[in-house]
Amino acid sequence: MKEKLEEIRLEAESELKKAPDEVSLQNVKSKFLGRKGVITEYLKRMPEVPEAERPEMGRLINQVKSFIENLFEKRLEEIKEEKKTSMLLKERVDITLPGRGIRIGGKHPITQVMEEIISIFERMGFEVVEGPEVELDYYNFEALNIPKDHPARDMQDTFYISDEIVLRTHTSPVQIRVMEKQKPPVKVIAPGKVYRCDSDVSHTPMFHQVEGLLVDEHVTFADLKGVLTEFAKLMFGANIGVRFRPSFFPFTEPSAEVDIECVICGGKGCRVCKNSGWLEILGCGMVDPEVFKSVNYDPERYTGFAFGMGVERIAMLKFGINDIRLFFENDIRFLRQFS
Ligand code: DAH
Repeated sequence: MKEKLEEIRLEAESELKKAPDEVSLQNVKSKFLGRKGVITEYLKRMPEVPEAERPEMGRLINQVKSFIENLFEKRLEEIKEEKKTSMLLKERVDITLPGRGIRIGGKHPITQVMEEIISIFERMGFEVVEGPEVELDYYNFEALNIPKDHPARDMQDTFYISDEIVLRTHTSPVQIRVMEKQKPPVKVIAPGKVYRCDSDVSHTPMFHQVEGLLVDEHVTFADLKGVLTEFAKLMFGANIGVRFRPSFFPFTEPSAEVDIECVICGGKGCRVCKNSGWLEILGCGMVDPEVFKSVNYDPERYTGFAFGMGVERIAMLKFGINDIRLFFENDIRFLRQFS
């Protein structure tokens, strides 16, 4: 009996040590200690053992049993450890591989130019305001001294939503909205999107403008010239030539357009400036007393100037771009040049 137990112990030892994984290890354990296991059989047969030998037998069986149990636990730990190591080896990350680069986006050129324009006027003390893109005919035209039968309405290819509602064709209506709410002094710029039914190399149905308005007592045309000359020089370089050319807008009197020396040919004359040597960058003028009347400002007491510029046009001149549609085609090869 004793020898038989020793044989069983050795057999269990070798099988436990050889078990390659958790499942086969469990199988070995139940082969010896399970309900129908070899050791269990021995315990069941204890009553057959002569009484005097029973304590000794019991002790031996328990010894073998705990030997198997201990070895089982030890081997189980080993197997788990082996599994972990092999997993770690398998999942090893090769940090010598070059990484995949992350492309950083950039601001759209129109956003960049818009921000530059805004920042120049902010430094001069102008405050940024906004107005709606879907606008009443009244603000877009009527209050700006453009009545329904006015020929100037033809200049602006308006998208009509209804008889009285339009997509704003310029940012000038924001002037009216500001003056309705606020007494002078007023010193604002209004950047935003505008819409016109027009499309070719220099027109898109949606584009951007920045409007400016300054109203106070004793504002003169000299103030207008000073502010806009300074703007042109900050935007296009301190040495750029600037001129004011008489023009007409229904909401300003007198009105002017501002030209800069052609950035392409330096004023000598080329295809871009149509051989004039000059490029128009904005419209401006002294606020028409009729406009003041529609917002209940006293035209005897207050004067002011206003201006409006197209952001795409300024961006085209600044970057030397000859087709406005490039801004809106979202071609990454074009956009990447500005980031
Ligand atoms: N609103 C004009 C346009 O879209 C631009 C403009 C001209 C705005 C003269 C002004 C101004 O404020 O005084 O063509």
